[in-house]
Formats: sequence, C-alpha cells, structure tokens
Amino acid sequence: MSNLKITGFGDELTINGTRIGDLSPADHEKIELENGGRNYSPLENVVVSHVQDSSTLICRKPDPDNIKAYIEEEVLDGLCCYSAVNQGQLNQTIVDAVVKHLTEEKLPTVPRSIRHKYMSGLLLAVTGITEMDRVVPKVAGVEAPELLFKLSRRWGYQKKGIPQGEAIIVGAKGNFHGRTMTAISLSDDPDSRTDFGPFVPGIELVPFNDYEALKSLFEEKGDRIASYLVEPIQGEAGVIVPDDDYWQKVSTLCKEHNILLAMDEVQTGFGRTGANFAHQLFGVKPDIMGCGKAAGGGILPVSFVAGSDEVIGTLTPGSEGSTFGGYPLGAVASIYAIKVLVDEKLAEKARVRGAQLMNHFEDIMNEFPDKIKEIRGKGLLTAFEMHDEPLLDGHTVSVNLMNNGVYAKETHHSTVRLAPALTIDAWQIDNIAEAIREVIRDL
Ligand SMILES: Cc1ncc(COP(=O)(O)O)c(C=O)c1O
Repeated sequence: MSNLKITGFGDELTINGTRIGDLSPADHEKIELENGGRNYSPLENVVVSHVQDSSTLICRKPDPDNIKAYIEEEVLDGLCCYSAVNQGQLNQTIVDAVVKHLTEEKLPTVPRSIRHKYMSGLLLAVTGITEMDRVVPKVAGVEAPELLFKLSRRWGYQKKGIPQGEAIIVGAKGNFHGRTMTAISLSDDPDSRTDFGPFVPGIELVPFNDYEALKSLFEEKGDRIASYLVEPIQGEAGVIVPDDDYWQKVSTLCKEHNILLAMDEVQTGFGRTGANFAHQLFGVKPDIMGCGKAAGGGILPVSFVAGSDEVIGTLTPGSEGSTFGGYPLGAVASIYAIKVLVDEKLAEKARVRGAQLMNHFEDIMNEFPDKIKEIRGKGLLTAFEMHDEPLLDGHTVSVNLMNNGVYAKETHHSTVRLAPALTIDAWQIDNIAEAIREVIRDL
C-alpha cells in the first residue's frame, strides 16, 4: 500500500501536499535537483507554465519583490523544442484531430500484433511525403538513427555480402544522433560518452563536409562499409551547413562503392530547412532516412525510418519492432502533422522567415563585427557564432535573451541556435532579432 496522494488538475495538481501552482522557480529547481537525474542544466529562474499561441510561451519567473513568489511573462519561443514543434504549439488541425480521435473515434492504443485502420493512413502519408517505398514507425527520435544503423548492417550482410561481423558504419565528427548506446558510440562528444563504454564496434568517423577524407576511407575499406550515416546539416554541432556540392559528390561516391547513404533528418526534416527534408535542398536522395521531432506535430513523440524496398525489405517479422511505433493515436498525430506541413506550406514559410532572420543576423554581425564571427543557416535552422572570448559567452546570451523575453539556448560556448516554429509571424522574427541586437550590444 502506498501513501501517495495525487489530487487536482493544472495549478491545483497536488502531490502529497505539494500544490504545483504554489511552486516558485527556485522550488522547481530544488525538486529537480533532489529528485531528477541531474542530466540537464535548464535555464535558471524560469519555468514554462503554458503556451499562449503558436510561438509564445507563458513563463514563471521569480517575483522581484518576493523571492518565494513568481510573476508570469510572455516569452517568444526561439527554439520550439529543438524543432519538434515546427507546426507551431497547439496547431489547431493536429489538436482537433487528436482530440476528435480520442473522443469520437475512440482508438488510442493497440499493439502491432493486430492491425488497426490508422496504420494504413500513416504508411500512405509517410511514403507520400518522403517519396520512399517503405516505412517503419518508431517513437523517440533516437530510435530513427538506431534503426538506420541496424538496417545498414543487415543490408550490408544480406545484399552487399559483407562478411558476418565485419560491417562498418561511417559517421561524421561532431554529429548528434541521440543518447542510446549506438548513438553515443557514433558520437565524439566526451560529455555524452564518458564512462559509458565499451561502445558499439564497427564505427569510423570522418570530418563532416570533407569529401576527400570520406573518399580515402571508402577507397581503403569500402568493401566492408555498409553506410554513411549522417545529418544533412549538423544541428547540435551548431548548424553546420556543408558546401553546396558536398551531398551530390557524396551521393555519387556512395553509389560507386555500393555504400548506403543513410540520413538522420530528425532535426532537419519537416520543413525546417526550407524543404520538406533537407536532402532535397541539395538534390540528392538517401537510401534510408530517419525522422522524429516534428513528425509528431509537437503533440506526441513519433519517429520513423523511411527508405527503399531493397534496404527496408531486409526486415522480417521479429527482427524489429516497438510497442508504441505507429500506435493509433501517434499515427493520427503524425498524419495530421504531415497534412499541416503540406497544407500550411511550412517549408516555404521556413524559407521566407529564415531569410528575414538571416538578414537581421547579417545586420547585427555588421554592427558588431568584434563580437559576431559567423552566421549560419538554411530556412529556419539558424545560428550565430561569437568570437572565442570568455566574455562572449553563449550561456550569458541565453540568460539575457530570456530577460528580454526570448527563449534560445547556446549549443556550444560561443554559438547560439535560433529555430522557431515555422508558423512564426514576421513581427515576431523582428522582435527576436531586436532582443538579440540588444543583448549583443550589452555584452
Ligand atoms: C539529428 C538528431 N538525431 C536524433 C536526435 C534524438 O532525438 P530524441 O532526443 O527525440 O531521441 C536528435 C535530437 O536532438 C537530433 O537532433
């Protein structure tokens, strides 16, 4: 018997006497430090309460007159959950579909061992938008690159004829594919790897956007390489955009060596970079690709791998699966997330609003050339990098932006990424840029 008592809803939600609406930002931080895994360091002194519109968060901040209390303020969301909310917070089409699905259709959850009618809808919608032959639905973003990895090996043994146990997957330095053992085995980031070894074997890394390095690795070990598993634009690394011709050359090289091009579009997909999927910007088509984040419309976690019949066709019953992969409610969220991507022309919006934001960045860089070193971006996946000096600190920028009513977060010491919802209004982009200008001026 547990003595745990949970009552109420919203701010009235009370757990063993602790009412959520009574907690100050400091209280929330204390509970997280005492009861959480301490595996994040969220922005200090701010707690999101709810959303006001597609790009506005209502945040609780300490009351300047009373440390135990809080005030609520509007904050422009410059990050939209790391591109999970491309369609805008509470996108009406997706919310309506999900609510109607629960209240009228009444089909939340069944497993893969029995068919449900929305799986067909999901498969048709995803193959339609990705222009791929087959789809395997998953849940978390990281499950997409995980499955890209497994599929690469299976195809390598069964179709390419790599000797058993010798398959190599090539990744790019600076990559980010998530937090599972496979993803961190691919990573070269000490923060994600320290004391988690031994790692998954059969991985080689090359510098991103270095065609010659990839070519010489393929020439040396190509007969054992199954795939180049890579982000088309590196997101977590600080929005690293490769040369215009990089992917075309890589795609040709992969074909020459019978090596799969496996793209992780978890962050770059769903309109973010100004095309439905970033590889389309470069005129190439991967053999397999993984999506997550905005694949669930910012409402539910949905991910998938889509790809060619030759690669995904290597799967057999029992070789792959997931209880919630493509479950009815997730399927509905994803189908309508795709509908919104198409109907609301999100890729086009990303191009227009992205160009507006990059113009602002350019003005700010011209105004403060001693502070801003470089600006980078495609569509609404953008970042500015400051010179590497102690005072030009990305975290200070994030904190000061929050004080100016904008949420953004540094990716590295000197780089700050901006990736707002693709539904953001022009005036909101102007406001974000103005806040950045003020913060940079005061550094
Ligand atoms: C390119 C890429 N792949 C995979 C992931 C992992 O997604 P998730 O955190 O939803 O597991 C991320 C998350 O940021 C990502 O950017």
